[in-house]
Amino acid sequence: MKIAILAGDGIGPEIMGEARKVMDALNLPDCTIMEGDVGGAGYKKHGHPLPPETLEMAKAADAILFGAVGDPDCDNLERHLRPEQAILGLRSALGLFANLRPATMFPGLEDLSALRPEVAREIDLLIVRELNGDVYFGEKAIRTLEDGRRQGYDFMSYAEDEVRRISHAGFKAAQGRRKKLCSVDKANVLETSQLWRDVVIEVSSEYPDVELSHMYVDNAAMQLVRNPGQFDVIVTGNLFGDILSDQASMCVGSIGLLASASLGEDQTEFGTKGLYEPIHGSAPDIAGQGKANPMATILSLAMMLRHSFGRDADADRIEAAVAKALEQGVKGADLGGSSGTSAIGDAVIANL
Ligand code: NAD
Ligand code: IPM
Ligand code: MN
Repeated sequence: MKIAILAGDGIGPEIMGEARKVMDALNLPDCTIMEGDVGGAGYKKHGHPLPPETLEMAKAADAILFGAVGDPDCDNLERHLRPEQAILGLRSALGLFANLRPATMFPGLEDLSALRPEVAREIDLLIVRELNGDVYFGEKAIRTLEDGRRQGYDFMSYAEDEVRRISHAGFKAAQGRRKKLCSVDKANVLETSQLWRDVVIEVSSEYPDVELSHMYVDNAAMQLVRNPGQFDVIVTGNLFGDILSDQASMCVGSIGLLASASLGEDQTEFGTKGLYEPIHGSAPDIAGQGKANPMATILSLAMMLRHSFGRDADADRIEAAVAKALEQGVKGADLGGSSGTSAIGDAVIANL
């Protein structure tokens, strides 16, 4: 098991430290750990947010555990030098097009949801977010028009093969769950979304056992807080998936709880090569204070063990230990508690 650890910026090193502690406690056999610089840290040390040696390391690894990137000191750099380019560059260079972002209610946390407990209790959904296309990767610039006004633009597009492969990922995920897939788009306004919808419908003929529905993204944002229990798997584009997953996180209590897996087509000996990261960012407002909730990163480690290494039993152990710690009242400030980053990590380990 070759694992690249990329901690990144802000709270990245703090939350990664706890995931490392959990890894050590599991005593994983035949594990080679590599560590690389990425994000603002990569820029400050090597002049680039995704230094070539880090990219090589990520390519050589079976799986990557990623903390977070983003540094206010770097917000005015040219775009290609900004920390965020590291994660975008990894997703694209490694062909990680399918981003799985599960949001499930932990028992006992219903009262901490931003929703009413009886509404929050029902949440058990998976967002399958396309990760290699959309407005994220189109031509973009700020240009000056002939009349002297500045104009910003970002080209939004999806090619049919890109939609087809993420559709398959969505249908397959639904087959492994409650067999309901909701495709979220904005086909009433965007041609990109019209093609998306057409292709999802084409692909659906291969999955007669999955019930397919379509929803406009504005309605989906509303339904996610009105009745999130109606969703099983949501498949959507890069931008909509980014936004809806942050929203889903507060429905289950905190962004500090949501893990993710980013998968492509490359296989490892035991599963699929992937990058695993919390859905949150580098949280500069709390960095260096020992306040960050490491659970999303620890749960991302569980996803790594399951998807890249076929170690389902270890993944289950980690997830059960996180649930148990929460039940015991081990909660960070994000959940209204007072447990610090390392105390949360210790509590998870004690419950393994
Ligand atoms: P953020 O997710 O970093 O933080 C949003 C809010 O949530 C903050 O108040 C933060 O303190 C809180 N928060 C986030 N994670 C937490 C945790 N584990 N425990 C407790 N509280 C937590 O989003 P932002 O503030 O919009 O962005 C900050 C930086 O992170 C930006 O540079 C952004 O580009 C970057 N970012 C990176 C990633 C990534 O690396 N994949 C993801 C999102 C944002
Ligand atoms: C995420 C982040 C990234 C995204 C940024 C940092 C590029 O918000 O992983 O959700 O938009 O995909
Ligand atoms: Mn995001």
